[in-house]
Amino acid sequence: MSKISVKDISKRKKRKKITMLTCYDYAFAHILDSTGIDIILVGDSLANVVLGLDETRNVSLKEMLNHTQAVARATKRALVVADMPAVSFRKRGARGLADGKKFIKAGAAAVKVEWFKGCEPVIKRLIKSKIPVMGHIGLTPQTAHLLGGYKVQGKSKESALKLIKQAKILEDLGCFSVVLECIPYQLSCIITKEVRIPTIGIGAGKYCDGQVLVLYDLLGLYERIRPKFVKVYKDLSSEIKKSINGFVKEVQESRFPTKNQSFSMNKDQLRQIPLK
Ligand code: KIV
Repeated sequence: MSKISVKDISKRKKRKKITMLTCYDYAFAHILDSTGIDIILVGDSLANVVLGLDETRNVSLKEMLNHTQAVARATKRALVVADMPAVSFRKRGARGLADGKKFIKAGAAAVKVEWFKGCEPVIKRLIKSKIPVMGHIGLTPQTAHLLGGYKVQGKSKESALKLIKQAKILEDLGCFSVVLECIPYQLSCIITKEVRIPTIGIGAGKYCDGQVLVLYDLLGLYERIRPKFVKVYKDLSSEIKKSINGFVKEVQESRFPTKNQSFSMNKDQLRQIPLK
């Protein structure tokens, strides 16, 4: 079981599809790492699915670092990538490099940076400092308010050309891969052919070099929103509800715990306890 590296991911283009899932805690990371998953992304979707915030741009650096540490502690094989939060890029990305270093210290092997106007210098600084960067274009949730909301991007010629250009810029800056979120499958096919770095799609069709999903979506754990591009492989919400109702019923009927789940005391010791 050898650790998957950034180089391994770069080499996968046109060879074998890349798989990536988000993860935010130790227990799930341990499970994911024992499967065939290539990349574990500590996504800023943490904001929505774990913290209950409306916008990913409101997650803090401290929250992202804490969850990155938890995931990294459990991960021995997969590549751990941490999403840099929007807050790292305020004031023209002044904190970007320092924060990127914090993610590597927390155990990530690379960081993901969502495209924003003027992101190039900070990505350049990160890569120059040997911090591998995964780019992210299309529907970038941190700046969705500037894109007209959570809408499919790149549907018009102008918007498609802009995204092709962004993908090429990220490649030229030295990003090792790029996430394509919510764009037409024809456009992701063009971008995948146009760049030498792997493309990893979410709501971008099948022609990407890899696919990513939010773990809680794939497992049916996030009931608030279910985007069109999500496939629920297992509806764990209903399984969990069944289990918890089983616990409630058994406690109420005094059927849990049984002797099997209880500790017992030596009779001699018990006899010596004075009873009123
Ligand atoms: O945070 C996240 O979940 C992501 C994926 C959608 C790629 O960035």
